[in-house]
Amino acid sequence: MKERNTGGENPGKKAAGIAAADLVKDGMVVGLGTGSTTAYTIAELGRRVREGLDIIAVVTSYQSEMLAIEAGITLTTLAEHPELDIAIDGADQVDSSLSTIKGGGAAHTREKVVSRSAKRFVIVADESKVSEKLEHYVPIEVLPYARELVAKQVKELGGKPELRMAARKDGPVITDNGNFVIDASFGIIDDPKEMSAKLSQLTGIVEHGIFTNVDEVYIGKKDGSVEIR
Ligand code: 5RP
Repeated sequence: MKERNTGGENPGKKAAGIAAADLVKDGMVVGLGTGSTTAYTIAELGRRVREGLDIIAVVTSYQSEMLAIEAGITLTTLAEHPELDIAIDGADQVDSSLSTIKGGGAAHTREKVVSRSAKRFVIVADESKVSEKLEHYVPIEVLPYARELVAKQVKELGGKPELRMAARKDGPVITDNGNFVIDASFGIIDDPKEMSAKLSQLTGIVEHGIFTNVDEVYIGKKDGSVEIR
């Protein structure tokens, strides 16, 4: 399988994505994350569906919807299945206590909804995503109307806000929910739970990318091995 958007195959992402697919069993309702690592999980689940695996899935983005349809996975909605057996998703950074930053693909709002709807939430990532502490910028989905107010509040929290622009720089990134994304840098985040609570209080945000509900992380290495934390 060719990896989308990154121009090549990443053995760590591939190993983690495929290994986590093994957690999915017959009869499960599965949350499918977004990104190049989860794309391997979706492709692997599609392969197993063709071999007879019986699952239905909820997606977290139009990207994962298209991949799941291509893979032949039957889709459902959270309205029909509010409780998922498992959700598998990628990460931008994971710290030693499994706190995670997501939203590099601007899909973190639906990803958080799906992860909170799941009995078990598993992250798949290559080893470059693992760090002792979180220091990646935090993606924040904001109402377009409130972008300046959110930027001001991020500065008041000591962060540096930057409106995420589309690759061609001719306008802002628009999320699947029709909103903008502000990437907020805070340096090292010593207490992700506290930062998560502070960001949740900001007026004008839809959702931020700190996840403190991760159950397990599958870390894929360059040599194809997978460490589970
Ligand atoms: C999308 C995400 C992705 O899961 C995260 O950016 C990781 O992506 P990739 O697996 O391509 O490295 O949070 O909003």
